[in-house]
Amino acid sequence: MTTLVHPAVVDYLAGLSRLPHPQLDVVAREGHAEGLPIVMPDTGALLHALTRLMGARRVLEIGTAIGYSALWMATALPEDGRLITLERHAERAGRAREHLRSAGVEAKASVMIGDAARFLHKIAGPFDLIFQDGDKPGYLALLDRLHVLLRPGGALVTDNVLWSGAVVPGLAPARERNADDTAAIAAYNAHLAADPRFHTVWVPVGDGLAISTKVA
Ligand SMILES: C[S@@+](CC[C@H](N)C(=O)[O-])C[C@H]1O[C@@H](n2cnc3c(N)ncnc32)[C@H](O)[C@@H]1O
Repeated sequence: MTTLVHPAVVDYLAGLSRLPHPQLDVVAREGHAEGLPIVMPDTGALLHALTRLMGARRVLEIGTAIGYSALWMATALPEDGRLITLERHAERAGRAREHLRSAGVEAKASVMIGDAARFLHKIAGPFDLIFQDGDKPGYLALLDRLHVLLRPGGALVTDNVLWSGAVVPGLAPARERNADDTAAIAAYNAHLAADPRFHTVWVPVGDGLAISTKVA
């Protein structure tokens, strides 16, 4: 796992943090063993905190993989809360369902199989919180639809906006990153910075998060 802050700091903070559910460790180990690109624990913990802080009841995620970030958010939802998470890879979606069931939060989380580009036009908002962790060219392409699906004052959280530092001019990235994805993320960041529909703050947590509040 490459980190943008010093690994000792990451380890120290991880040592202080309490997991909301032990199944998170199981999913993280499985993801790392297979080299799956799941969020870092600090990103998961921040998603959990945001879900709680906002009192979110309806949450949407793009890019479930095997359900790690979904589990962080679902464990923060109230009993009547609901997470819809999208994954185009059917086998991963099946494993995500199993993990959510093992954690006892399956009633709060629906894992849908399909491509976000098509699926997002079939669902209705409003969502309190949307977590965008799908393919990087899709970040900008789906932004208008996500804006429609978000309630005023709701938050769109986007992962990997620092892309191991590859989007930062003059910085040698902590790991090799695909040039097309790097260009897509750089364009997305520049767009968000100028988009009056959102107020965005970028935080160097995990691989970089953009937290964009929909202006009412
Ligand atoms: C970075 S991983 C998600 C990791 C997950 N959020 C976590 O932290 O546990 C990205 C996942 O999104 C899926 N994906 C990418 N683009 C997608 C799209 N347009 N629609 C649905 N799924 C997509 C990929 O198959 C992959 O499993």
